[in-house]
Amino acid sequence: MTSVDRADQPLLFVNAAQVVTCEGAGEARRGRDMNDMVVRTNVAVAVVGERVDAVDALPVLRERFAGAREIDCGQRVLMPGLVDSHTHGIFGRPRYEEQEMRAAGLDYMEIARRGGGIHSSVRDLRAQSEDTLFELAHARLRRLASFGTTTIEVKSGYGLTLDDELKTLRVIARLARALPMRIVPTFLGAHEIPLEHRGSAADRQRYVDLLIHEMIPAVAAGKLARFADVFCETGVYTVDESRAILTAAREAGMLLKLHADELTSAGGAELAASLGATSADHLAAVSDAGIAALGHGATVATLLPGTMLFLGKSKQAPARKFIEAGVAVALATDFNPGTSPTTNFPLILTLGVSQLRLSVAEAVIAATVNGAAALALAGHVGQIAPGYSADFALFDVHDIRELPYWYGDNRCVATYVRGKPCHPSDLGVT
Ligand code: NIG
Ligand code: FE
Repeated sequence: MTSVDRADQPLLFVNAAQVVTCEGAGEARRGRDMNDMVVRTNVAVAVVGERVDAVDALPVLRERFAGAREIDCGQRVLMPGLVDSHTHGIFGRPRYEEQEMRAAGLDYMEIARRGGGIHSSVRDLRAQSEDTLFELAHARLRRLASFGTTTIEVKSGYGLTLDDELKTLRVIARLARALPMRIVPTFLGAHEIPLEHRGSAADRQRYVDLLIHEMIPAVAAGKLARFADVFCETGVYTVDESRAILTAAREAGMLLKLHADELTSAGGAELAASLGATSADHLAAVSDAGIAALGHGATVATLLPGTMLFLGKSKQAPARKFIEAGVAVALATDFNPGTSPTTNFPLILTLGVSQLRLSVAEAVIAATVNGAAALALAGHVGQIAPGYSADFALFDVHDIRELPYWYGDNRCVATYVRGKPCHPSDLGVT
């Protein structure tokens, strides 16, 4: 190894057209504060080990970090790596046939009632080996990273038996060890009521009992999930079932998320707020009472506009109402085989601006600081500020407003996680 490759040698990220730092308090940003993305010019960023040490004028940093390696940003935009706080990244076969079924007039929930939708992915995942699931997810998460994402929450939820859920969570743990991205695991054994438990009310209750008394304890004992999540929706889990499952998960030491008010207004937002969930996700059908409930607490509203777009719904979550009510809004891809098979997070920023009517700054904060808050990581990732993990994305644009503008394009040229090149893995240390 030459001295140039020394792991402890400071790095200086130089010659960026803009450094979008998102710096500020290490917590979710709400209301007018969501416009504070902080665009700095004529600054460089110093990284020591895994963390940002300083953001300052280049001559100042060159003097302070003599002998540092310099990474030339080439007059592009450097920003915190995108934080994707909602994905269902572990699945086998893609479900492209359902897209045409919806185009022909069959609703998403109707496809599920006929045994397709999530049930179709469940049948498929149960038949796949752990190694195959690992290989498939490895390639798919790499693709997420190639668009500028450095932190990825990954849910289980296509197993729906103790063994298949544990299998999925073991795959997520293996991915976290194998990939440079930061991966946050979520247990979503309550993604559907499995078909074999849909015969009677007693069958259904047996699955809820299995979740509470066997699956959650096993997941907690194996330390396999940081979060637990439930699909609270008309025809899936009721508010009462969701409350019972999440309460058990909280008692087992997990933080909480909830698929809330995605397609119908079923009281999910109110439930998430009352449980102090870290995030309530989807919310396209949220009621005014649900918005008010979230406005009184700390739960982040994670909006997933790609899902509504792909399902062909004209409705989107009322992002402006959330912001006016003082709710912290995050954006995420909802990457999954049924309702949002996109790995392109910048495209979600486009939808954030064009469909949710966010400003560019609000969309950027929603994908960084507030995405991190939706994963209880806001003091650690999502900002380019001293002490924060050196998780960066470098985009081939000269102004941050170009990021949601070139929609569908991939302008990401490199990402770094913990100060090390992540995507592409061989770029950036010259
Ligand atoms: O977030 N809504 C529930 N879960 C996913 C969809 C999963 C699927 O259709 O496979 C979602 O949209
Ligand atoms: Fe989802």
